[in-house]
Amino acid sequence: MKRFVVVNGPNLNLLGKREPEIYGTRSLADLSEVISNKARQLGVEVSLFQSNHEGEIIDFLQKEGPASDGILINPAALSHYSLALYDCLVALAKPVVEVHLSNIHAREEFRSRSVTARAARGVVAGLGFKGYELALEYLAQL
Ligand code: DQA
Repeated sequence: MKRFVVVNGPNLNLLGKREPEIYGTRSLADLSEVISNKARQLGVEVSLFQSNHEGEIIDFLQKEGPASDGILINPAALSHYSLALYDCLVALAKPVVEVHLSNIHAREEFRSRSVTARAARGVVAGLGFKGYELALEYLAQL
């Protein structure tokens, strides 16, 4: 069975409470359920992780990434500046899809640049929870 790691970065633990007009009213637990249901439907396994700490995310990816078939990641604000996370994704040499709940190109200027996206096969932005389902569908059919 194919196995994917799904990572959510800083502040995504606040989903549902954090700027609901942008990120919606559903929680991280709701998102995890949507992803797990999609994984079941696709017949793949997912390993879900959220952290507010760059180093913890990198440690998790270094541990779980090598044995996985790909990485679905919403690096959150780390997208905009974390070269360490970018280097980690490149080092793993696995298919990566970067997801953003909001359309980062329709917001503040600084959000439109993602340094981590360069390590990704593709980016889904602005489609909310659906973006994670589409990204997982893509990874599952590789
Ligand atoms: C985000 C967009 C980022 O700019 C922001 O820092 C986040 C969430 C998104 O999912 O839309 O925390 O990655």
